[in-house]
Amino acid sequence: MTTQTYFIRTFGCQMNEHDSERAAGVLEMMGYRPAADEASAGLVLFNTCAIRENADNKLYGQLSQLKPLKLADPDKTIVVGGCLAQKDQGALAEKTPWVDVVYGTHNMGRLPQLLAQADSKSLPVVEILEHTEMFPSALPARREVAHHAWVSISIGCNNSCTFCIVPSLRGPEKSRKLGEIVAEVRALVDDGVSEVSLLGQNVNSYGRDLVLAEPDGGARNRTMFAELLHALGEVEGLQRIRFTSPHPKDFTSDVLAAMRDVPAVCEQLHLPLQSGSDRVLKRMRRSYRARRYLDLVAEVRSTIPGVAISTDIIVGFPGETEADFAQTLEVVEEAAFDSAFTFEYSSRPGTDAAAMDGHLDPAVINERYVRLSDVTRDLAAASNRRQVGTVQELLLEGPSKTDPTRLSGRTRTNRLVHVPAPDDAGPGDLVNAELTDARSFYLLGAVTSSPVSAPVGAALPVGARTR
Ligand code: 5AD
Ligand code: SF4
Repeated sequence: MTTQTYFIRTFGCQMNEHDSERAAGVLEMMGYRPAADEASAGLVLFNTCAIRENADNKLYGQLSQLKPLKLADPDKTIVVGGCLAQKDQGALAEKTPWVDVVYGTHNMGRLPQLLAQADSKSLPVVEILEHTEMFPSALPARREVAHHAWVSISIGCNNSCTFCIVPSLRGPEKSRKLGEIVAEVRALVDDGVSEVSLLGQNVNSYGRDLVLAEPDGGARNRTMFAELLHALGEVEGLQRIRFTSPHPKDFTSDVLAAMRDVPAVCEQLHLPLQSGSDRVLKRMRRSYRARRYLDLVAEVRSTIPGVAISTDIIVGFPGETEADFAQTLEVVEEAAFDSAFTFEYSSRPGTDAAAMDGHLDPAVINERYVRLSDVTRDLAAASNRRQVGTVQELLLEGPSKTDPTRLSGRTRTNRLVHVPAPDDAGPGDLVNAELTDARSFYLLGAVTSSPVSAPVGAALPVGARTR
């Protein structure tokens, strides 16, 4: 029997990256092996995104490119899962009848059964569930990078930002038990992982559902997210903890204190602003205001020296005036973001914003987007330039995508740095590097000592590879 092979293409966010690693884990458990590309794979899986309209369009375009492959080889299995599948359900299979299996955001664990059903049917097998049957992290994983792991701490979202389709696709927030998360992280560290990124739509409301279910009805005042950071800080050998994304409205001082006090928690914070205009924030149903956001940024910067703060901003929300946009620019300048993801507003079916008055001309949205992106790019470049001349700890990741003689690594603040490959260190090693040159989106440097001793925990002896 020939070995079955698979190829996964991932669209969208880190949540999807994580889901894809889990889908790969499930397929490998079934005996599948990775293929180099879509054309040579026996099974092609698209893990889809629906957050903005261009994500939808791009995806349908790419799905059409699979049609000739399926016609040439009817035995090829085509699977579409994730957010767009959850959104479009059976309509997706009607638009692209050459797919074999469609699953949503709640049932990736049922891939083996769905594939078995598809074997015996000529029509696409479509299964979309309304509730999650298990956390993705409870499934086996095939990690893309040996020393880094995504860990989902909660799924779904209880907020109702008016632009966002996520709550309708990923359901209400459900937290995973603290002990289960710590046990998973321990097992990952035993398997060579030194950095984890905790994932949730709104990480700092983590555990609210668990606390409410306690006998005292949630009377304690320390948030469970702070508790989780402290608990993970005790895992020996875990060097770096990151998390994404907190919501500014729920960012409590105990979480900031945990960031300061738990050495493994990195000096990095992604704090989505969305808009700098109070009027727009209100229409977005984001319950903080620009001043509160800026005060929080100032508090984070004074508590965590050297912290890098990144953000998400949407331009062209319905009803956004030039004055509103000018306020966003002002807040961006004052916050002095170290990096920013900027998005043109995209109307999503079923969201409250889609039904609002005042949708803007796409040309206006684009013009503001370009102006904002210029500002955020300059701020990112300035932030990188301030690093030049410093020596920072790098976790080496692998060969640089553009120059194979170099290795790429990340600082604790999540800055990308390329260094000439040293003889005595490789992917997974922590090294010190002097940063010598800055560009807008990366830095250049040279390793000064390698590998460095593990700064956190005692499990890694000096010179040990983490993998
Ligand atoms: N249009 C544009 N950007 C959006 N985002 C979420 N929904 C939309 C939308 N409808 C952005 C937000 C969010 C990020 C993940 O995607 O900025 O933080
Ligand atoms: Fe969407 Fe707002 Fe929830 Fe983020 S917090 S997933 S933007 S509804």
